Amino acid sequence: MKVDVLLGLQWGDEGKGKIVDVLAPKYDVVARFQGGPNAGHTLEFDGIKHVLHQIPSGIFREKTRNIIGNGVVLDPIIFRSEIEKLAKYRLNVRSNLFISKKATLIVPTHRLLDQAYEKAKGDDKIGSTLKGIGPSYQDKIGRQGLRVGDVLSVNFDAKFKKLTDIHLEILKKHDIEFNWNELQAQFFSAIEFLKEFNLIDSEYFINDVLNDNRSVLAEGAQGSLLDIDFGSYPFVTSSNTVTAGACTGLGIAPSRIGEVYGIFKAYSTRVGSGPFPTELMDAEGERMRKEGNEFGSTTGRPRRCGWIDLPSLKYSIMINGVTQLLMMKADVLNSFPIIKVCTHYKLNDGSITETLPYEIVNEKIVPIYHELPGWQTPITGTSEADLPHNLLSYISFLERSLNVPISLISIGPDRSQTVLRSKIGV
Ligand code: GDP
Ligand code: IMO
Ligand code: MG
Repeated sequence: MKVDVLLGLQWGDEGKGKIVDVLAPKYDVVARFQGGPNAGHTLEFDGIKHVLHQIPSGIFREKTRNIIGNGVVLDPIIFRSEIEKLAKYRLNVRSNLFISKKATLIVPTHRLLDQAYEKAKGDDKIGSTLKGIGPSYQDKIGRQGLRVGDVLSVNFDAKFKKLTDIHLEILKKHDIEFNWNELQAQFFSAIEFLKEFNLIDSEYFINDVLNDNRSVLAEGAQGSLLDIDFGSYPFVTSSNTVTAGACTGLGIAPSRIGEVYGIFKAYSTRVGSGPFPTELMDAEGERMRKEGNEFGSTTGRPRRCGWIDLPSLKYSIMINGVTQLLMMKADVLNSFPIIKVCTHYKLNDGSITETLPYEIVNEKIVPIYHELPGWQTPITGTSEADLPHNLLSYISFLERSLNVPISLISIGPDRSQTVLRSKIGV
């Protein structure tokens, strides 16, 4: 079998958690391949609303096994609190959650360093979630990080001390307050908790599943426009959020990739700093934020809102090899009389383009819009025939422009508020 990949095509928060939960019953395994507790993936069903950060979004499905892959940076303290928050649902987390021994550990000083580096950047700050993502990936690439498998080693405490001594030395130059004894105690108690879980060689596990003709869904975090290589650098996260990241973050060969589900909102949002060509700073943007309840699932920060941006979506589709598109939050536009679609960018020098310029941070991009009539009616029913005519026209316009079919339309946060236009999943 192949690995299908589901990932965000914008700046994150596209609704990945909801759709992974919808698709999970069709898969034997759901696997996170990058990112860490910077992610906030929301699931809603049966009156429950639950946000997951590091645990894959297949966890509520009894028959699905969930893997935290080697590409993830895992905070054991947040992991414990996530497991505790799941306790009331009586899930079999100890039998259907598996963690790669090669996943990188986030230690408390990573979070402190994140704070220190952001503070030092002043007005140029990235707008990080401050979960220690950048510093932990730095240590991984710098070949001095700690990995989940290290917790089983007898000299783990010494390894921890060696790494955190380096961090504490750097922190002396920054004005960050913390109680080191307390942080260490919290960390080591979370490590004991982590040891109770299945710590595995996940690359063997996943390849065995595939060779056994069973199916895997790789769950992306963040979005393609936050990718460390292809996003609006330096206003990005510190991992490869694109399809290729699923290969390195799980240990699967590129030839194993099957469907690539590219998920996007019917408009755009971004949280944190960095370029956002179609951002609306007016009442219309405020209305999107209100209708879409656009506040961060991890930090609670208001998300910046704007119209859909085709040049950047085309870019994401190209980099990821998207085979099917999934459109989220169509209902948020129900009351808008006009739907705007940015088809091209006008650059500083007056030229018009539909490709992303290298200099996107300092370039003053002016979006060029195509306008379509809104549907101005609530969406009821969950079959394609129930969708308003003008919404279907919007969908057709996007399909023609993007040259990839839209297989699913999401019309509300609940599992059930999902319109499938064609057979997706296995
Ligand atoms: P993720 O990070 O990609 O999993 O997305 P988030 O969970 O951070 O943000 C998506 C938000 O939109 C969550 O609050 C979801 O419950 C909500 N949501 C998902 N799909 C829809 C939809 O179709 N309509 C509306 N109104 N909300 C949705
Ligand atoms: P999910 O998986 C939206 C953003 C942050 C910041 C930048 C870097 O829920 O879609 P980091 O903490 O990684 O150093 O922050 O990336 N960011 C996200 N924005 N959704 C996310 O995850 C994000 N994870 C990080 O706001 O701008
Ligand atoms: Mg999110």
